[in-house]
Amino acid sequence: MARRKIVAGNWKMNMTPSEAVALVETLKPLVQSDEVDVVFGVPAIDIVPVVEACKGTNIEVAAENMYFEEKGAYTGEIAPAMLVDAGVKYVILGHSERRDYFHETSEDVNKKVLKAFEHGLTPIMCCGESLEQREQGITMDWIRQQVKVGFQNVTADQAKTAVIAYEPIWAIGTGRTATSEQAEEVCKGIRECIAEIYDTDTAEAIRIQYGGSVNAGNAAELFAMADIDGGLVGGASLKPDFGKIVNYK
Ligand code: G3P
Repeated sequence: MARRKIVAGNWKMNMTPSEAVALVETLKPLVQSDEVDVVFGVPAIDIVPVVEACKGTNIEVAAENMYFEEKGAYTGEIAPAMLVDAGVKYVILGHSERRDYFHETSEDVNKKVLKAFEHGLTPIMCCGESLEQREQGITMDWIRQQVKVGFQNVTADQAKTAVIAYEPIWAIGTGRTATSEQAEEVCKGIRECIAEIYDTDTAEAIRIQYGGSVNAGNAAELFAMADIDGGLVGGASLKPDFGKIVNYK
């Protein structure tokens, strides 16, 4: 099955609202593509102006996080319905920075994934091993666990539309990219795990991104791998180079 590639930027905690709009204006002409789904993952405060600035383009907007409750006394959190009302289509969930710095567990991520589907948002669920885990040879066991827990009670039809981002923690922001073989090995393993949980159809449909120091120079090789359906891009998504990553061919 030919899966459509999806290239998403994760701006992280960068860009004030006015900087965000200026960046959209710079990137708009550079990220045009008929072949690739293009997503900008932006800080919560930038969502409204970025959605507005992206109107009439091929760019969809992602939130970088959300809470798993509907509404109420959760100071500082953002509800799924708020994202939907603001025009958001995707939500990045379980990024390793959220797991590490904000103590999100796979169980929390699972609640968020389920909530995202309930509200018609497409989750981009992140997973990835630390350098220590890679050196211990437990990469795939760890990733399989993250995927299995993250997808608990998710139906096959929902899973088919989901995005999983494989981001080895040792490759994030370090300039040290996984080789295309290393990235492919894990993305293939994730697809096999989805086939075990569901079936081959679901595994063939779900899109799996690689993230970790993706740049204009390595995107083509990474995205050419059989099980890599695009990328989740941090640092390079803040630069005109993001256009080259989208148009990697
Ligand atoms: O989510 C994207 C990410 O964590 C990778 O960041 O800066 O290594 O591309 P970067």
